[in-house]
Amino acid sequence: MSKTQVIAVDGYSSTGKSTVAKRLAKHLKFVYVDSGAMYRAVTFFALQNQCFEHKKLNRSKLINLLDDIDIEFKFDHNSQKSVILLNQNNVEEAIRGMQVSNHVSYVAEVQEVRQKLVELQRQMASKHSLVMDGRDIGSVVFPNADVKFFMTASAEERARRRFKELQQKGESITYDEVYQNIQKRDQIDTSRQHSPLIQAEDAILIDNTNLSQEEQFEVMLDSISQVL
Ligand code: CDP
Repeated sequence: MSKTQVIAVDGYSSTGKSTVAKRLAKHLKFVYVDSGAMYRAVTFFALQNQCFEHKKLNRSKLINLLDDIDIEFKFDHNSQKSVILLNQNNVEEAIRGMQVSNHVSYVAEVQEVRQKLVELQRQMASKHSLVMDGRDIGSVVFPNADVKFFMTASAEERARRRFKELQQKGESITYDEVYQNIQKRDQIDTSRQHSPLIQAEDAILIDNTNLSQEEQFEVMLDSISQVL
């Protein structure tokens, strides 16, 4: 089998990574992997299994339960989309709400959680060429990725985009709550001990505050075409 290729799309919360990563994957005929969904699914499991006590994560309880967590992606014929399964249950929608968003960065700080998910991510790349988005894809998971992007945009613009998305889904939430959540997650994600969010030295920086989705896609595709 020929060597698989990896495009890493890292960056801050709500920078539109998943939208553009999906589109690039479709165009390149690569598999798209949402690594954030994996951290969200573990968080959903932690919430369901009372691993948070008074909003604080009981790390050892979660670590002891890690072997009970099975995560996979599957194509769903109803929605015609790839969805994430947690212990065979489709949790694609359930993991996107604010409850999971408000807890996920604490779960993502746990080294044992990261080890488990990074192993799974590397297994996926041994089978298919991938576009994977996340926080540590170019820096830790695939330091030899073929192309690496690092996405950013102003916090206000990111909160505006995420607020609109959640409103469309019918979640009752204020702009301010979304803004606070984004800032809090950025702060935890960039300052944590294990695999913090950083721009890999060889990553291409994309500030999309003033870029349309189309412009951003073209810029990224152009960079990819120069390498692949
Ligand atoms: O909300 P957004 O789409 O920006 O985030 P996400 O990609 O769904 O990721 C949710 C959270 O998972 C992040 O805030 C990080 O705490 C964590 N994460 C991580 O630590 N490493 C990754 N490779 C992906 C996500």
